[in-house]
Amino acid sequence: MTKVLAIRSSILAEASASNKLVHGALSNFQAANPAARIVERDLGTHPIPHLDIEAATGLRSAPVNPVQEKARALSDKLIEEVNDADVLLIGAPMYNFGIPSGLKSWFDYILRAGITFRYTEAGPEGLVKGKRAVVVLTRGGLYSEGPMSVMDAQEPHLRTLLNFIGITDVTFVRAEKLAFGPEHREAAIAKALDEIVAEFRPALAAAA
Ligand SMILES: Cc1cc2nc3c(=O)[nH]c(=O)nc-3n(C[C@H](O)[C@H](O)[C@H](O)COP(=O)(O)O)c2cc1C
Repeated sequence: MTKVLAIRSSILAEASASNKLVHGALSNFQAANPAARIVERDLGTHPIPHLDIEAATGLRSAPVNPVQEKARALSDKLIEEVNDADVLLIGAPMYNFGIPSGLKSWFDYILRAGITFRYTEAGPEGLVKGKRAVVVLTRGGLYSEGPMSVMDAQEPHLRTLLNFIGITDVTFVRAEKLAFGPEHREAAIAKALDEIVAEFRPALAAAA
């Protein structure tokens, strides 16, 4: 049975383009694979707290108080969800050229030395093996080509974070120019949905 971890990170709830695309991909897949197990996290409605000194200490060394213990327990749970999945489906809007701070917080709790990566003499090694990720990128502007492409701190950052923990089979689906008017927005979302369905079905079938 294929296991999917779906992560939403938009702050825009019902108005969100990435939420719409994640929902569309999941519905389509679920219709074809009713037995698939899907775990969902919505970081927009249920944010992961930003790291502070207590949380970072609890993640990086043995916790010495309840606040640190709580942070470690949350990190353990989030990592367990990743380890348990065959495929990660991540909705990632562009906010101020990068990923939403909520999604960054999620990664802050996932990247743990000795657990999801380690340093070896040959360099860093990701310890989360055998997964596939499909990432939906939504943007107001155009970054996949043209003069704005150098400002894209969203896709390269996500690729680095996922690759670093060992998830190297990553497909990006982009819905761009969403701020260029309602018609363009609708067409871009429809095109991205076709792409994500085409990407996602084989990814899940391969993991089944
Ligand atoms: C706080 C905020 C910052 C944004 N910053 C950018 C940006 O830097 N570049 C861009 O092309 N679009 C930007 N946008 C537009 C979003 O990328 C676009 O609305 C996209 O649909 C967001 O995905 P979502 O609808 O799933 O939240 C921003 C939107 C918000 C709300």
